Amino acid sequence: MSTAIVRIVSELRSIVAAWRREGLKIAVVPTMGALHEGHLSLVRAALAKADRVIVTLFVNPRQFNNADDLAAYPRTEHDDAAKLASAGAHILYAPDAADIYPQGFGTTVAVGGVSEGLCGTFRPGHFDGVATVVTKLLLQTGADLAFFGEKDFQQLHVVRQLVRDLDIPIEIIAGPTVREADGLAMSSRNARLSLAERNRAPRLAEILVQTAERLSSGQLIKRVLSEAQEAILAAGFSKVEYLELRADSDLASIVRLDRPARLLVAAWLGQTRLIDNLQVALPRPEVVHQAAA
Ligand code: PAJ
Repeated sequence: MSTAIVRIVSELRSIVAAWRREGLKIAVVPTMGALHEGHLSLVRAALAKADRVIVTLFVNPRQFNNADDLAAYPRTEHDDAAKLASAGAHILYAPDAADIYPQGFGTTVAVGGVSEGLCGTFRPGHFDGVATVVTKLLLQTGADLAFFGEKDFQQLHVVRQLVRDLDIPIEIIAGPTVREADGLAMSSRNARLSLAERNRAPRLAEILVQTAERLSSGQLIKRVLSEAQEAILAAGFSKVEYLELRADSDLASIVRLDRPARLLVAAWLGQTRLIDNLQVALPRPEVVHQAAA
């Protein structure tokens, strides 16, 4: 099957309108391209739940708070289109920046609460850029379902919040983080790692797994987190921006493991910023009992 490439929103809308007249269910998977298995897992999940799948490819300048990062972002549309064709996606919507942000564009979608802290602290303006473009892409495609990865866990919460607050009639579905065989979370930015850095990178996920186990066994949160931070630095990372335990459902800060939680981390390996996160299981009842005793 071939995947149609569409660049103009009016063309996208007329295709979607025809699908709607046929009563088809439509899903969208927003991406910035350089597609890997993480993206493709979302496309497959979308194909399983919808009759038609639109993948958007737009390297959104407004969400990059660093010009070098934007310039270095991989652009591989030709390969992306081939991957989408073999996955069975129906449309690759790849608009130009001048069409997404025409002269005079003046609206910013700023989501309160969940965009604060974590990446929001270290990437000022990033989530405004994400929220603005995601709002546009959801409205332009008019899809019934939209798929986002847990890899970008705070982003997933930002999107859920904006859809709720703005009454956008779409269901947000999350897909689990897809990892390399050695545990490293797949990311378009992994390609920037040197060989030596690539060999060290999986330590981040390993440390998350060990830390999550220690937390679930009832060990003191503060001490476990500070030891984990030291372990990340000892593994060769140059800086840990944050390593935090938050509530899974709304990213609220938590001081006690009394509800489903998530460990979230951002750390630099040379010139590359990596993020990852992991769910933390609640302590078994006997552990809670011990801690209280
Ligand atoms: P991008 O980084 O290309 O990611 C597109 C989607 O793929 C996001 O929902 C992201 O969480 C998901 N994804 C990335 N790596 C993944 C992995 N290893 N496993 C599972 N899912 C993964 O995120 C963006 O683009 C942009 O911010 C966007 C939402 C498109 C707005 O510009």
